[in-house]
Amino acid sequence: MTSIVFASGKGGVGKSSICLNMALILAKSGKKVVIVDADMAMANIGLMLGIERTPITLNHVLSGENAIADAVYDGPWGLRYVPSELSTERLSSVDYSKLKDAVLELEKHYDYVLIDPAPGWMVDAKSAMDSASEAYVILTPEPPAMADGLKVKNYLERKGTKLNGAIVNMVLNDPSEVKPSEIESLLGIKVAAILPEDRMVRRASASQQPIAMQSPHSPFMLALTKLAGQITGHAVALPETKVKKGILRSLVEFFRNLFRKKEKPNVPVTAPK
Ligand SMILES: Nc1ncnc2c1ncn2[C@@H]1O[C@H](COP(=O)(O)OP(=O)(O)OP(=O)(O)O)[C@@H](O)[C@H]1O
Ligand SMILES: [Mg+2]
Repeated sequence: MTSIVFASGKGGVGKSSICLNMALILAKSGKKVVIVDADMAMANIGLMLGIERTPITLNHVLSGENAIADAVYDGPWGLRYVPSELSTERLSSVDYSKLKDAVLELEKHYDYVLIDPAPGWMVDAKSAMDSASEAYVILTPEPPAMADGLKVKNYLERKGTKLNGAIVNMVLNDPSEVKPSEIESLLGIKVAAILPEDRMVRRASASQQPIAMQSPHSPFMLALTKLAGQITGHAVALPETKVKKGILRSLVEFFRNLFRKKEKPNVPVTAPK
């Protein structure tokens, strides 16, 4: 139904982390979601999910060898994803202009098609931006990031993409940072979300398990889940995981047992002589 790209010209601002965890939040809330790893030179959604065996990839689709349906794989929580190829072998035969049609096809079958683009201004990054109907501009709150954010916003605007706003990531609330109100007036778009710098995000990518699954109650996830509510138009719950419930349950059990022991009548342990 809706395709959304999480765009930035600058690399390393959190596009993949935001896109993947947003996809998981939406999937967990019951939506039909597919994430497209459109960063074909640096495919990393598969790595972030810990899933590496994907014989047919987006590269096959854009090379005209396969249909997009052949490159859709099952991820956690009902999320589906289209990987890019880890090797750069097939890149030369990729026709980036085919991406839009592939996304349009996916839109017919899913509530949300989330696109993780390449950074920069080369054809791969632009084709990802061109293929989505809606976009967020991702940026960090440093002054040099403003020029990049403005460039991306202007590009998307020229293409007629619906701009949902800016997402400011890795926010430390340091006085040196550009404030959300300044970002809004510099870029001419509203700030849709402020995501804190959160070490759990880095820890999650290092351990190949998304933060949505590892630390669903982390500050990053709280802010991202709020944004998910803006996307769906209604409040979205934090994605609870089995691990979390397990820990909670065993804690409850621990205290229950402790109190039970205390409630027992004081019977002497050794029989009186
Ligand atoms: N809010 C955050 N707090 C802390 N670390 C973060 C946050 N967001 C992302 N990161 C970390 O920053 C690094 C870059 O993030 P990510 O790969 O998501 O960015 P990207 O924009 O997709 O990069 P690229 O442009 O290279 O594709 C990763 O190590 C990630 O774990
Ligand atoms: Mg990325």
